[in-house]
Parts: sequence; C-alpha cells; structure tokens
Amino acid sequence: MSPVLDITGLCKTFAGHKGHPPVRVLDQVSLHQREGEFLAVMGPSGCGKSTLLNIVAGFDRADSGDCLVRGRPVVDTGPDRGVVFQEYALFPWMTVERNLVFAMRAAGKWSADAPARITAILKRIGLEAFREAFPKHLSGGMRQRLAIGRILAIDSPMMLMDEPFGALDALTRGLLQADLVALWQETRKTILFITHSVDEALFLAERVVVMTPRPGKIVLDLRIDLPRPRDITTPEFNRYKREIIDVINPVLRLSEPVT
Ligand SMILES: Nc1ncnc2c1ncn2[C@@H]1O[C@H](COP(=O)(O)OP(=O)(O)OP(=O)(O)O)[C@@H](O)[C@H]1O
Ligand SMILES: [Mg+2]
Repeated sequence: MSPVLDITGLCKTFAGHKGHPPVRVLDQVSLHQREGEFLAVMGPSGCGKSTLLNIVAGFDRADSGDCLVRGRPVVDTGPDRGVVFQEYALFPWMTVERNLVFAMRAAGKWSADAPARITAILKRIGLEAFREAFPKHLSGGMRQRLAIGRILAIDSPMMLMDEPFGALDALTRGLLQADLVALWQETRKTILFITHSVDEALFLAERVVVMTPRPGKIVLDLRIDLPRPRDITTPEFNRYKREIIDVINPVLRLSEPVT
C-alpha cells in the first residue's frame, strides 16, 4: 500500500534575519507514513520539526524535495489535514459551538446532519456544557480538546499535532494523551505528532522518529511494539526509552552551544 504521507529529500533554508547568514533547517529529510499510523517526531529545539509539519500542513513550502499526501504534492492547506498547535488557534470571538460551525462551513463540510454531529462531537470531547462559552472561558486542556474537536468536525483523515499538550499541566496532559489514544483507536486517523517528551512519544505512538540538530535529518526510526493501554513503568517501556535517550543525548549535546 502506498504511504499516505510520502516525503522525499526535503530541504529548507530560511533567509537570514537582518544580515545574518541563511539558516539551513531541513537537509534531505525523507519520511513515509502509512494510513492510520500514529507517528511521533522528536528532536532538539530548532531542528526543524515545526518547519516539517508546516510543510506537510501547507503553511510553508520546501526549497526542494517532494512532500506528497495521498500521492499529490502539497501546495496549500486543506481540510484533509487538520492541525493542532501548542497555542490553540481558535477564534476568540466565537463560542465553542460557533468555532465548530465555522470550521465545517469553511471546509465545505456543512450538511443537514451537521448540528447533530456537532452535538455528538461536543459530547465526545467533553464540552457539551460549554457550547455557548468563549475560548477565554475554557482551560488550556479544554481549548486543546476544542482544537481536536474541530478536526473531528471537518473529519480530516490526517491530524498534524505540534506539541499540542506542551503547555498543559501533567495531570491534564495525561488525560488528553489517554483520550487521544482512544480517539485514534476509534477513528484510525493518521497522526503526525511532534513532542519533546520521550514518555509522551512512547505512550502514544506506534513509531517514533528522532531528528538531529539543524539542519534536521532523521537518525532513528523505531517501531514501538508495546501493548495498549501502555504502562510507562514496565521494563519493556523503559527499554524503548533507553534506546531513544541514547540517541537523543548525543544529539542534544551536539546542539548545545559550546561555553
Ligand atoms: N519563518 C522563518 N523565518 C526564518 N527562520 C525561521 C522561520 N521559521 C523557523 N525558522 C528557523 O528555523 C529553525 C527551525 O525552526 P522550527 O520551528 O522548525 O524548529 P523546531 O524543531 O520546531 O523547534 P522547537 O522544538 O523549539 O519548537 C529555527 O532556527 C528557526 O529560527
Ligand atoms: Mg516547534
């Protein structure tokens, strides 16, 4: 089966800021993701993870190489790829419900059964009682659930998540992680998930890739063969953790400025 995401030889350099030299961010990155796969991407800060995700989302373009989604080059954003950022991009002047209505209309997904679907989604993400609330009245976790609800509303087969739980407290983060796994098991959406946390990557993903410091390249591509629900205290979990940390530690050392 051909991969849903097919990235080959991707390169990206940003122009230098105010006379500084150009910044080479991605160097010949190749990555293939199969339909329904839950893939986590890790790597030191500034290695180009968000740049990669932005290219897949259609917010940015590579200088060279190919980024294909279902065999088609990505040239723009699209409802087939839903995005969740660390900083929730919700419309602050719209209620919870209106945020979903707007997303569905904008994606051309509005239909006679849309109101019923919105109700079902609000129930699924635990925000039914907050239908009329504005984003500023929601907690960080609730806002992220709404951002995920928006992807459910437009029914994107692919979810692109850039450290979506990074700003949340540990308890809320744990709840959202467990819920994301449940959602993935229900819907089998393809998920590309960026994180800094080894535990988070191993709790969530079927496969973890690690990138080098800028310009980012993939140095580890590991299939995670652990039963679910995953238990972060088992020796098997910790063996995977050791394997990833052993790759990440030298990578981090390389990325630290020499003092
Ligand atoms: N629009 C831009 N213009 C110029 N430089 C940029 C732009 N976007 C990103 N960069 C630079 O590209 C590099 C990679 O940035 P990117 O945001 O992809 O890293 P990241 O791996 O997501 O880091 P973090 O883990 O901190 O989120 C950084 O050095 C950043 O300054
Ligand atoms: Mg980033």
